[in-house]
Amino acid sequence: MEGMQQTTQAVRVCTVAELSDGEAVRVPPEETGTGAISVFNDGGEFYALDDACTHVGASLAEGYIEDGEVVCPWHGSRFCLLNGELEEGPATEDLRSYGVEVRDGSVWLLLEDTTGR
Ligand code: FES
Repeated sequence: MEGMQQTTQAVRVCTVAELSDGEAVRVPPEETGTGAISVFNDGGEFYALDDACTHVGASLAEGYIEDGEVVCPWHGSRFCLLNGELEEGPATEDLRSYGVEVRDGSVWLLLEDTTGR
């Protein structure tokens, strides 16, 4: 789009030691500049998805991880950790997914920042 520029903004989430296997950390909107985003550790790999379930908004950081998916704590919808795709309802929409990077012993959330707004 004209006059718009895409840059990547990194938000420090926590240290690698603070996010153990099977756990999630919720990064609040004040830090992401958009909605809350959850960062998950599944077997030493990190993934980031929108925190709010697309059904009625439960915090997915409060859910649990199984078979590469996060399971919503309220009604059990399942989303792929890799790309946010809905695998099982009652939700009907996918989640957005984000990049994660491990650098200097910390976990960083990578956000596309549209400047020039
Ligand atoms: S809020 Fe997640 S399944 Fe209902």
